[in-house]
Amino acid sequence: MRAGSLIEIFQERFGGQARLLHAPGRVNLIGEHTDYNDGFVMPAAIQLSTLAAVAARPDRRIRVASMNVDGEFAFDLDDRTASPRRVWSDYVQGVALALEQAGYHLRGADVLFQSDVPSGGGLGSSAALEVSAALALLSVAGIQLPLLEIARICQKAENEFVDTRCGIMDQFAACFGRQDHAILLDCRSLVYRHLPLPSSIRMVVCNTMVKHELAAGAYNLRRADCEMGAKILGVPALRDVTPAQLQRRAVELPEQVWRRCRHVVHENARVESAADVLGAGDLGEFGRLMAESHRSLRDDYQVSCRELDLMVELAVGQPGVYGARMTGGGFGGCTVNLVAAPEADNFVLRMSQDYRAATGVEPAIHVCRAMPGGGQWNVPDPDAVILRR
Ligand code: GLA
Repeated sequence: MRAGSLIEIFQERFGGQARLLHAPGRVNLIGEHTDYNDGFVMPAAIQLSTLAAVAARPDRRIRVASMNVDGEFAFDLDDRTASPRRVWSDYVQGVALALEQAGYHLRGADVLFQSDVPSGGGLGSSAALEVSAALALLSVAGIQLPLLEIARICQKAENEFVDTRCGIMDQFAACFGRQDHAILLDCRSLVYRHLPLPSSIRMVVCNTMVKHELAAGAYNLRRADCEMGAKILGVPALRDVTPAQLQRRAVELPEQVWRRCRHVVHENARVESAADVLGAGDLGEFGRLMAESHRSLRDDYQVSCRELDLMVELAVGQPGVYGARMTGGGFGGCTVNLVAAPEADNFVLRMSQDYRAATGVEPAIHVCRAMPGGGQWNVPDPDAVILRR
């Protein structure tokens, strides 16, 4: 099921001729929990994505439904006192309100979503929903915005309406992905560079099937620890601290805050090294940095879980594996594995068998390709489900 049938289902459900927009999920190769510390990240947009079929309405109402979950939600664009209902449509409502608050006058619309980005899987499903919603609502209102503005507004919606204090990585990747490239992003200046990914490797994403849905509170707590660290150290953000400076001032920090800081400060340094070694083609060293990142997220930042650790342990030592680590916010979700292309299919089979044997759970495993960011969905042939832009 994809583009062609989504338009048909839209027509049956809402009536009217829909147009299609989409935004991709992302995998993060390295640079975890650094974005909201003004640091560096290295995500890539992937082929798992969210499609939005949309048509304008004559009023200022937004009606939304999804092929992934039951139920239909509606809200009024003029309702400025709206509060979140703690359902998935909050992401759409938050984006609509943030666009209006930024001065963009929207039209009412019916929107039907369909996503193959697993929700709560650490692959940026919230951002894919937000960015596809923004593109859909802007499209029917006839408004064109720079992608950076869209990414910022979507992050703001998640921070303020949904109340998850996320950074900008996921929304940025959903907007600025490029085919066969990762993105090296400085989350302070928002200056970025596309880094070519060698054709000899595959990014394989292994889903532990543990959902992180209740982790927003723990995420916000991590961010608060980082802010406390920056305050004690007298800097605007942990981005401004080097590993040597942190070591010198360690005694001033409470133990837990120091651990959080140690992760962030070293992770930032790892992203910069990872960009260098990727450019030099040293995949072995890139993999070593991934392993360090995972250990640091597990021991210092404490956002891994038993299943993620197991998935990483099972991957390391498989033929053709350069590196493995948890990806995304943590507390469940996925690992990212860099695997030599000729070994990728066997890796998928073995990981699936080994994880099932150890846990009794069938993991979802995706061999990912770095894809372009969101936009209009052009479907020359409605059955060509793999072709994007
Ligand atoms: C989630 C957030 C991102 C980022 C990652 C951790 O995906 O949405 O902003 O903080 O966690 O790196």
